[in-house]
Amino acid sequence: MDTEFVLQTHHLNKQFGSVRAVDDVSLGIRHAEVFGFLGPNGAGKTTTISMILGLTYPTSGEIKVFGERVTPEHNRALRRVGMMVGEPALMLAFSARRNLQALSYLYPDLPAKRIDEVLEMVDLQATRNLPVRKFSTGMKQRLGLALALLNKPDLLILDEPTNGMDPAGMQEIRILLRSLAEQGTTVFLSSHLLHEMEQVCDRVAVIQHGQIIAQGKMTELLPKHDIVHIRTANLEQTVQALKDLPGAKHIKIDASSIEVQEVSSEQVLSFLVTRGLTPKEVSVSRPDLESVFLELTQKTA
Ligand SMILES: Nc1ncnc2c1ncn2[C@@H]1O[C@H](COP(=O)(O)OP(=O)(O)OP(=O)(O)O)[C@@H](O)[C@H]1O
Ligand SMILES: [Mg+2]
Repeated sequence: MDTEFVLQTHHLNKQFGSVRAVDDVSLGIRHAEVFGFLGPNGAGKTTTISMILGLTYPTSGEIKVFGERVTPEHNRALRRVGMMVGEPALMLAFSARRNLQALSYLYPDLPAKRIDEVLEMVDLQATRNLPVRKFSTGMKQRLGLALALLNKPDLLILDEPTNGMDPAGMQEIRILLRSLAEQGTTVFLSSHLLHEMEQVCDRVAVIQHGQIIAQGKMTELLPKHDIVHIRTANLEQTVQALKDLPGAKHIKIDASSIEVQEVSSEQVLSFLVTRGLTPKEVSVSRPDLESVFLELTQKTA
């Protein structure tokens, strides 16, 4: 195994009866990156994360955290890990501050001001004295994150951390995760929200039916070219003509317009004008992770 990785899984498998929930999953997460573990419901995200955190045994395969092997019996490396999996375990009768204080007793060296620091980080300062039973789902998630951050972990592992949050709350969490990574914390988070991952991650792995179907830099996974959309009265002729445009790829008719990739809108326009097929409108859109993901999952379905 490689020492360049903060977190590594090596041919990890988990079998539940006849279901192979995790199938040969090898991941490598580097220092101070935000790594996204992306996949639809039931893909195997929580099962993988539970094995990484020593909460359940792998059927086979290996996990290393900070270069040290992790199993349910041997999990010393997890002392440097902050985690949030599922609903955070909270004492509902008490305030956010009291919940954090209770956990802080486990860490005698923790400076007293750390509790206020983490409340500030997750934007719960104003409601710090409200009993947690009055919290919304999103506020509980944020408190869960504050608990995970309390001991200044070097690696943060979060399973669907923005579940139940509104768009503004999600954005705050994205900003927080980015700033943590900039300060040297490695972040591994799962989500089925593609747009969200696109905005926060340096690298992602896409999991489907327990298998990794893509892994790489966000910039490599996303297509490098815009999609050019053409609206025209001469649909068929324009499609035929575009086949002669050097470089034009993935030409297709989408409802009443034509899509073409790997060429610029200027190239398309000047080419069509020379062919006497001046379109009504040419516009561009950027393919997002959602369309890449759909393409990837359809290929392997
Ligand atoms: N304890 C269990 N016993 C049997 N099957 C399980 C168990 N836990 C998970 N599974 C199955 O393993 C597969 C992966 O589940 P998992 O919870 O890891 O998916 P997920 O990617 O986290 O999904 P979601 O986005 O819904 O949280 C599913 O088919 C699920 O039904
Ligand atoms: Mg899950």
